[in-house]
Amino acid sequence: MKVSRQIARRPGLALASLLLIPAALAEPSAQRQAQLEHLLQQDCGSCHGLRMTGGLGPALTLDALAGKPRQSLIATVTHGRPGTAMPGWKALLDEQDVAWLVDLLLEGYPKP
Ligand code: HEC
Repeated sequence: MKVSRQIARRPGLALASLLLIPAALAEPSAQRQAQLEHLLQQDCGSCHGLRMTGGLGPALTLDALAGKPRQSLIATVTHGRPGTAMPGWKALLDEQDVAWLVDLLLEGYPKP
């Protein structure tokens, strides 16, 4: 109540919060993207292979992921796969991070 009255009195504030919404859906910062790529190689790569061609974990190449729904891959990275070696990453990665990593894989990583 109090907040909405404040917003009504200060239209600038409402506009500012609208402008923040697209920012929240945007990609991670360039610095965060570099960190995520490092994590993909060092941590994910320790199981999935430095070039994502598989190891203890399955390959995560373009071919290997073909036809797999983006949402289910996001769920796997977020929560892991209970009963397998695949850990969940939600303590380290937020939704935007996970989505960015999955998109990187779905575009084919590493790029030829
Ligand atoms: C300790 C080993 C290990 C690490 C570290 C690991 N994974 Fe996995 N991952 C696995 C295993 C094993 C599976 C297969 C689980 C199963 O049998 O369903 C898997 C499955 C997956 C899948 C689903 C693949 C498919 O074909 O459905 C994705 C996507 C994935 N991992 C991404 C990642 C990402 C991204 C990271 C790093 C943030 C990561 N993994 C780190 C072991 C690992």
